[in-house]
Amino acid sequence: MWRLKKVYLEILINMKPKILVTRKLSDGAEEKLKKNFDVTLNLKDEPIPNADLIKMANEYDGIISTGWDDLGKNFFKNLSKKIKIISQVGVGYDNIAIEFAKSKEIKITNTPDVLNESVAEVTMLLILGSSRRAGEGYNLVRSRKWKNVIPDLTKTMIGSSITNKTLGIIGMGRIGRMAAKCAKAFGMKIIYYNRNKLSEDLEDGAKYFSDVKSMMPECDFVSIHTPATSETKHILNATTIGLLPKHAVVINTSRGSTIDDDALIEALQNNKIYAAGLDVFNNEPNLDERYMKLDNCFVLPHIGSATHETRLAMSMMAVDNIFCFFESRPLISEVV
Ligand code: 8YV
Repeated sequence: MWRLKKVYLEILINMKPKILVTRKLSDGAEEKLKKNFDVTLNLKDEPIPNADLIKMANEYDGIISTGWDDLGKNFFKNLSKKIKIISQVGVGYDNIAIEFAKSKEIKITNTPDVLNESVAEVTMLLILGSSRRAGEGYNLVRSRKWKNVIPDLTKTMIGSSITNKTLGIIGMGRIGRMAAKCAKAFGMKIIYYNRNKLSEDLEDGAKYFSDVKSMMPECDFVSIHTPATSETKHILNATTIGLLPKHAVVINTSRGSTIDDDALIEALQNNKIYAAGLDVFNNEPNLDERYMKLDNCFVLPHIGSATHETRLAMSMMAVDNIFCFFESRPLISEVV
C-alpha cells in the first residue's frame, strides 16, 4: 500500500513543470519556487557554460535567466519545443534573441519597476562621484598619499557642484523619471530627450527635446536611461558628445552600447568634457583599458540594481512570472 502511495507521489512530483534557474536567486524566491515546481537551482552560482546551457535547456519547461546568460540566436536554434517561458531577472533583455524566442512561441518576461530606485541611486552616485572627484579622493586616501598633499584652497580636489545644474536625461522611462526625481532633490533642473513627449504629469516640469542633438548644448550633465536597441546604439557619439559644453559630465547606467567608447575616451583625454561616471560598459567586465587611465572617469562594476532589497524584489518577480504562466494567469511583465 505504502509502495503504491509512494509511486503515486513520485508521479505527482514528476508532473510539476521543470524549471532551470541559471544563477543563484535571493533565498526567499528560491524557496517559493521550490514549493510548486521541479526546480534545478544553481546554489554555487557558477556560470553555466553556453554549450551546456543549450543542452540542459531542452529538458526544462521554463528558465529563470539573468542578463549574464547568453540567450542569443544559437541558444534558440538548438531548442526543442519543451521550453515555454524564459523569465529574466532584470529589466534589460538585450542578451535574449527576442525574435527567435517569438518564432519558437516562447514567452519572455522581465522585471521592470522594482529596480527604478536602485538604478536612480547609482545614477546619483555617479553624478556625485564624477563631479566631486570621488574616485581620485578615494585613491588618494587609500594610497596613503593624502598626507603628502599641501592643500590649496582653489585647486586640491576641487570639483564641480551639482546644485542648480541642468541634467539632460536621454530616455525618460520609469528609471529616467526616478533619476529625475532624485536629481531634483539635489537642486538640479531637468530636461529630457525621449521618442515621445510625456504627459505633463509624468514630465513633472522637465523640458522636452524631440531631438537629442538639440538638447546636448543645454546639458551640464547628461544621463542615459534607454534600453539597448539598434536605435540607441552609440546615441552618445563624436557628434553628440561634440555638442556638449566643455564642463559637461556624461553618466551611464543603461548599457555600454549606448556610448561610442572611442568618442567618449577622446573627449575625456582631451578635456573636451569635464568627466564621466559609468556603471556599464561595452564588453563588460573587459572594458576598454583606456578608461582605467582616466582620472576624470568614475567607474563602477554594473551595480545599478545591486541591493539586497532590489535583487530580492527582482528574484520574486521572476518567480511570480513563472507561477502566473503555469497557473494560466496573466503575466506580470511580458516582453513577448
Ligand atoms: C542586472 C540589469 O545586474 O536589470 C538589468 O537590466 O542590467 C541589472 O539589473 C543584471 O542584468 C542581472 O540580470
